[in-house]
Amino acid sequence: MNTESNTSETTNVMPRIGDQAPDFTAVTTKGKIKFSDFAKDKWVVMFSHPADFTPVCTTEMSGFATGKSEFDALNTELMGLSIDSIHAHLGWVQNVRENTGVYFDFPIIADLDMKVSKLYGMLQPNESETAAVRAVFFIDPSKKIRLIMYYPLNVGRNMDEILRALEALQTSDKHKVAMPLDWKKGDKVIVSPPKTLDELNERIKDESLEKVDWYLAKKSI
Ligand code: BEZ
Repeated sequence: MNTESNTSETTNVMPRIGDQAPDFTAVTTKGKIKFSDFAKDKWVVMFSHPADFTPVCTTEMSGFATGKSEFDALNTELMGLSIDSIHAHLGWVQNVRENTGVYFDFPIIADLDMKVSKLYGMLQPNESETAAVRAVFFIDPSKKIRLIMYYPLNVGRNMDEILRALEALQTSDKHKVAMPLDWKKGDKVIVSPPKTLDELNERIKDESLEKVDWYLAKKSI
């Protein structure tokens, strides 16, 4: 028997890759935001953290804040969330600014009623009934969810990987290609395998590609 249960109060829908990002209106450190009106024509990286004034979260939020110019360069807005009050958020933002000079210059949702956490599957009751896990949602300009990361309470995320994944998604969209293991900007990309015999014959002849075999071929972009 499974002794772990997802009980009523905290049970939430898990959004999936390819779903439209659920819409919501929330109070944030930048005022009230309706998500469908936020960051028009931009990507959004929306992430949750378990609690303000906690050590791992402070390192992560500082990482997002210091990386903000890189997200800006990728046409991407940041949005944080935790199940804390606006008062706590403002106190924490000010505390980190005073201690380190790092300023969290992006909206942080005060999700005291857990509405957004539940909408986005950020409350995972067997990890915590009251704190959001460390989730990251990559949402494209059409507000479709394109990539999801979930980390537990005790392991911080990797900012290089978040930026790499974002750039991989955008590059894949732009060039209609796929990204191999460990792809980073400047590396070769994978071209789609042929779908017909004519395409297969073309592929075999194409000497511009780096080919392991007809179904695994790379090119520079
Ligand atoms: C932290 O950010 O350090 C933390 C928050 C909640 C639970 C455990 C660790």
